Amino acid sequence: MTRLLLIALSIAVVTQPKRFAVYRITPQTSDALQFLENLTKETAIDFWKEPRAVGQEVHAMIPDPKAGAILDSLRSRNISYSMMIEDVEKIIKNQKFARMKLKSERRQKDFRDGKVDFNLAEYHSFADVINYFNALAITYPHLVSVQPIGLTHEGRQIPMIKITNKRLSGPKRGIWIDGGIHAREWISPSTVLYFIHQLINGYDQDPIIRRYVDGMEWHLTPLLNPDGYEYSRSSTDPEIRLWRKNKSPSKCTTTAQGLFAPPQTTCCQGVDLNRNFDWFFGQVGSSTDPCSEIYNGAYAFSEPETRSVRDFISQHPMTTFVTLHSYSQILMYPFGHQVRTYSNDLDDLRNTALSAANALQRMYGTTYKVGTGADTLYPASGGSEDWAKGKGGVKYSYLFELRPEEQVWDGFLLPENQIMPTARETWEAIKVIATHTLSVPHGSGAASGGFHHSRAHSSSPSSHSPPMCRDHDQLCTEWAAGGACETWPEMRHRCPASCGLCRH
Ligand SMILES: *[C@@H]1O[C@H](CO)[C@@H](O)[C@H](O)[C@H]1NC(C)=O
Ligand SMILES: *[C@@H]1O[C@H](CO)[C@@H](O)[C@H](O)[C@H]1NC(C)=O
Ligand SMILES: [Zn+2]
Repeated sequence: MTRLLLIALSIAVVTQPKRFAVYRITPQTSDALQFLENLTKETAIDFWKEPRAVGQEVHAMIPDPKAGAILDSLRSRNISYSMMIEDVEKIIKNQKFARMKLKSERRQKDFRDGKVDFNLAEYHSFADVINYFNALAITYPHLVSVQPIGLTHEGRQIPMIKITNKRLSGPKRGIWIDGGIHAREWISPSTVLYFIHQLINGYDQDPIIRRYVDGMEWHLTPLLNPDGYEYSRSSTDPEIRLWRKNKSPSKCTTTAQGLFAPPQTTCCQGVDLNRNFDWFFGQVGSSTDPCSEIYNGAYAFSEPETRSVRDFISQHPMTTFVTLHSYSQILMYPFGHQVRTYSNDLDDLRNTALSAANALQRMYGTTYKVGTGADTLYPASGGSEDWAKGKGGVKYSYLFELRPEEQVWDGFLLPENQIMPTARETWEAIKVIATHTLSVPHGSGAASGGFHHSRAHSSSPSSHSPPMCRDHDQLCTEWAAGGACETWPEMRHRCPASCGLCRH
């Protein structure tokens, strides 16, 4: 009887929905930092902000059943923490309710898109965006073309809109802007949609915008990861709303549990697309565990979304590459895979970034940090903006971590009333970057980096041929001078000549 009751109870516990809280944890010693770094291997915890330095905040979303033990272990190590969000799903539900209310009131007419009906001040579905693009292409045929750049695992077309004055031919500089590579960062697609609106609606009124649209080809991809985005919209369950990766098919791993226990198999879906580019693939700040939030995939460009970017940019050289993420308010330039690692035109990238961040701040006082990802956040390899600079032949390559700042409580759950201010201030930064793009002499964008076909040094596990006697990166000499031949195994393949591994 008692036994039966116990079983009934435990079933009740198991089927109860998980509750998720977000904790703010600050490691004060290197031991505490290392302990938190070890915790990142625990896939049940979703680090909204990963541990990176002593004294810097970590944000961790932890499900109820795990919280007790984890918080105990923090207390026993004197690691201080506080609760940032008590019940994540409650906030998601409240925001959804507020959105529905707003929609039913339909008050925000001033945000409508001129001739095409589209409310920029709300988060939109994939289908809404496709319809919007098609309406723009029909309404502004002289400025707009829409084309898919690839097909996702679930069969969605990745939509790209090209904006330029088609009546003017001649060489034009290319600028690429993508959003939504990480599914849960909803503010990023919305911000790209605002840029599209500005370029099209400003064309007739604003001489600066006319210069941008006449002199450049804008390639805007607001939803680079539509499968993940749609999935994150499909439920208020925090594990779904806060989905980060794409929706690649499940991969299973089997781990031995000791002599007498059967091996355990776990299966997880999704690749972190911003670890899947061919730039020091798989070396730092990424994981080979398919259940990790930062799973880098089986090999570089294993995913259709990242391959689409690579293929498009290899066929259409860009002067400028911008990718939007959230959150933290940081403007990053390459390189992010190692601290204090820069391109040889660092001054151009940095000065442009500083003016862009200044222009952004002038709008509402929002402050941004400016630097490389490795210097401002943490080193991570396989990122798109590093690949664009290091291999894609781009002159200006930037990653924005949009609002909110780190210390606020809402993180990825940025309310809809923040969309317009975020988009407006970010547009000010983009205008600075666009102006600098226009002043790059023709032909020098692609020439300064040169597109290297990735096959030459693919990071797929099968490529273990002896190194050819030439460097595969422009920056090899600098890296070698900095001692990278000794510290980076990848250098043997990437920079055999500079590392003195062969004769010319
Ligand atoms: C972190 O993990 C490593 C390797 O498993 C271990 O040697 C180390 O003691 C751990 N550090 C802390 C602070 O838990
Ligand atoms: C935690 O702090 C207490 C009181 O300051 C101290 O007695 C204890 O040794 C500390 N524990 C650790 C693991 O540092
Ligand atoms: Zn991101």
